[in-house]
Amino acid sequence: MSFPAFRSRRLRRTEALRRLSQEVDLSARHLIAPLFVKEGIREPVPIPSLPGQVQHTVPSVVAEVGELVELGVGAVILFGIPARKDPLGSGAWDEDGIVQQALRALRREFEDRVVLVADLCLCEYTDHGHCGVLAEGPETVDNDRTLELYGRVAVSQARAGADVIAPSGVMDGQVAAIRHALDQAGFPHVAILSYAAKFASAFYGPFRDAAESAPRFGHRRSYQLPPAGFRAALRRVEEDIAQGADAVMVKPALLYLDVLREVRQRFSVPVAAYCVSGEYAMVHAAAQRGWLDLQAAMSEVLLSIRRAGADWILTYFAKDAARTWRA
Ligand code: PBG
Repeated sequence: MSFPAFRSRRLRRTEALRRLSQEVDLSARHLIAPLFVKEGIREPVPIPSLPGQVQHTVPSVVAEVGELVELGVGAVILFGIPARKDPLGSGAWDEDGIVQQALRALRREFEDRVVLVADLCLCEYTDHGHCGVLAEGPETVDNDRTLELYGRVAVSQARAGADVIAPSGVMDGQVAAIRHALDQAGFPHVAILSYAAKFASAFYGPFRDAAESAPRFGHRRSYQLPPAGFRAALRRVEEDIAQGADAVMVKPALLYLDVLREVRQRFSVPVAAYCVSGEYAMVHAAAQRGWLDLQAAMSEVLLSIRRAGADWILTYFAKDAARTWRA
């Protein structure tokens, strides 16, 4: 008998054999591109800590989504930056707010050819930068008063044309509150993608520059999940599904692939993974120094997230990846 008998390299010998044997596919249709729209600017404003990303105007976001649709990207998720902030974050449910304007323009332009997801949070809209109403007592944020406001925001986003509402503030009961508000207002068909396993991560830094949403004091550790909280994340996912989440998210993605894997195996709803701003910035920073090959690193990052079990990937790489994979 010749040695070794098991020669796995036989199926890796040529590009054609490797292609035939590839276990996980990458496709633009799984990708969700995060986009920022800012009120009161005339031209798009580049975001230094997120190379290639900008704060959009309404016309520029329409143009950007046109390119993404053309490239086959499955969905976009919108974040708004209002001209004025206040203690309650009332810009978030303004019928003429920046996200509502963008949603209406995108729906008009693209009809049902792209999925429109609206991120639902108050941190971009409050003057203190927290994700809900400040509490009187020891808690930073008043959970239950915040839920009422989330309901209003969800309804205004649905009215403006969102297919999916994605609450990212990690308040307890947010899915039930939003589901109830949507159903009452005549939007039973609008879906909820819950940021269920959202960890209090150091990797949101560039996003907070982009969304102008860093908390003015304190931190988000009393509402976002602890980075060591594997079981805490599973409990939270279970709860959000019980409250009616149509899909759930794990965030960040790369640093929490173990959580992603487990959520995929235990639950049957679609699972999204958010490759966050810091994960994107890391790859770009290394590539700028010539320490990594950008395209190869990008594809490997996205492949790892798919392999761990993500159905959908929220990523700032969406456009570059779609271009690379098409070519
Ligand atoms: C707002 C929100 C954040 C992100 C998405 N929605 C920031 C935060 O929680 O502070 C982070 C996304 C990213 O880093 O790419 N609640």
